[in-house]
Amino acid sequence: MCGIVAAAARREVSEILLEGLRRLEYRGYDSAGMALIDNERNLQLHKQQGKVSELEKAQQLRPVLGCTGIAHTRWATHGEPSAVNAHPHISDQRVALVHNGIIENHQLLRAELLAQGYQFSSATDTEVVVHLLHRELAAGRSLLEAMQSTVGRLEGAYALAAIDTAHPEQVVAARRGSPLVVGVGIGENFLASDQLALRQVTDRFIFLEEGDVVLLSPSELQVFDSAGAPVERTRTSISEAVEVVELGAYDHYMLKEIHEQPRALAATFAQAAGREQLDECFGPGATEVFDRVQGVQIVACGTSFHAGMVARYWLEELAGIPCEVEVASEFRYRKRVGHEGTLLVTISQSGETADTLAALRNAGEGEFIGSLVVSNVANSSLVRESELVFLTQAGMEIGVASTKAFTTQLVGLLMLTMALGRRHAMSPEKQLEITRALQALPDYVRQTLALDGAIERLSDAFIPRHHALFLGRGIHYPIAMEGALKLKEISYIHAEAYPAGELKHGPLALVDNDMPVVAVAPGDELLEKVKSNLEEVRSRGAELFVFADQQAGFVSEPRVKVLSMPHCPEVIKPIVYTVALQLLSYHVALQKGTDVDKPRNLAKSVTVE
Ligand code: G6P
Repeated sequence: MCGIVAAAARREVSEILLEGLRRLEYRGYDSAGMALIDNERNLQLHKQQGKVSELEKAQQLRPVLGCTGIAHTRWATHGEPSAVNAHPHISDQRVALVHNGIIENHQLLRAELLAQGYQFSSATDTEVVVHLLHRELAAGRSLLEAMQSTVGRLEGAYALAAIDTAHPEQVVAARRGSPLVVGVGIGENFLASDQLALRQVTDRFIFLEEGDVVLLSPSELQVFDSAGAPVERTRTSISEAVEVVELGAYDHYMLKEIHEQPRALAATFAQAAGREQLDECFGPGATEVFDRVQGVQIVACGTSFHAGMVARYWLEELAGIPCEVEVASEFRYRKRVGHEGTLLVTISQSGETADTLAALRNAGEGEFIGSLVVSNVANSSLVRESELVFLTQAGMEIGVASTKAFTTQLVGLLMLTMALGRRHAMSPEKQLEITRALQALPDYVRQTLALDGAIERLSDAFIPRHHALFLGRGIHYPIAMEGALKLKEISYIHAEAYPAGELKHGPLALVDNDMPVVAVAPGDELLEKVKSNLEEVRSRGAELFVFADQQAGFVSEPRVKVLSMPHCPEVIKPIVYTVALQLLSYHVALQKGTDVDKPRNLAKSVTVE
């Protein structure tokens, strides 16, 4: 989704801005741009539709140089992806501004500005902000004052950064609802929507808080809170080695990340090693909160929501703890009735998903006994704002379609089930059994990865199709949902998941020889029921792809292709089967020639509603 990079330095910063944008590319975007103030105090601008590489080409042909600048990758919300709608937006050849988020009252503001003679060149909501800022500056305000009064007019979510040729050394920025971090340099300062963009220049960061406005120059760094009072925000040193994410021998990050799972899963569970209490993996204070838990409310989006759905089966079946799961965009706006002793658990790979963050923030006073986030990003907004934190050890995930982040979330949630379960219905024997299963998990995943060739052969049948149906029962229903989501995200084949028992209540009408049906049928106690459902599908001429335990008694026959999965403990089957479905989607997408790592229209981190 949109990315911001900005710099106020005494050296030329165009390459720093471009490198920052490159580091944010994986999040998904459709156009890019940058504006700098040159040494004659003129604004210099490049905007391009498409990749950052297009911006680089434009920069090679006509270099724009300067020591103060802002840059942006845009993921279209208001106005089509185009060079005109790309940021920065400009007012009067004087002020340039970039924006992440959505300005909800932009129509009203646009009408007001039009009436005052401002002309608009784009269809974006953002352009009103740059004209508002210009209006304040033209009235004689300082850059800081102009930004403070501008944000007072805005409704919605934003991270903003702006420059003004009348204040050529300064960058002003503000945040509400979208993340923004200051990178503190020596004699220079930077700003970005994600610290990753700035690790090239500094390891010292200030994570801005809601409503903050910040003024940067090479020598000054002033933060003001939403009331306009100067504040000191904590400086954080991120001193661990910068994670170098390279493709290595793989063709795509997604494939690399699928293959990294044995290591990532082991590292995530290894956090429990040597600890007296599993509680300690969830941060200080976990024991006190966990002692009071009577129920769990999970809130998440996308793939993380599917992790929550799997966790519900674990929490209720293994721990005997009531659990509700809901997508964040629904949860946040719903009038809710709380249950005493409920723990709010958010799940978010990025820790920045706007709806999940809003759900945490608008949890009512006394509605929950505490909040826990399962995330892959330390220092993310959800991590900073939750009381308890479980950090998955997936390592950075670049592919937009989540793979290792999902399976490591499941490990974290199974660990949560154990931590809570020992206080409820889970026996010590069961805990030991799950611990052993988690220890063995990386090996079962390796065995599944070794089935790559067989899965690739299955994928051929999907290439000419426009639709696919995924079926699962019990805990494997969310796994079927995740399999269908992966297929639609990266191959653009319409895929739906159904609980197998619902087949006769609608989807069976769609089943014919043009509709491949994928069954997640691991061979648990629901196996016989799944087999009946599959007969119903087969007798309508559909081609069946059954992912089944090698001991489940499924054999391939005409129009039924069986992938024999390793025989492994029930509790970890959702994780192991996910890996096979990830490979299936990958191979289908590969053969269809889609952009596997950056599927069209999608973003890695969805920081707007
Ligand atoms: C986007 C990503 C998905 C992800 C979802 C939730 O849609 O493309 O892969 O599952 O956001 O993201 P989160 O960071 O909150 O897990």
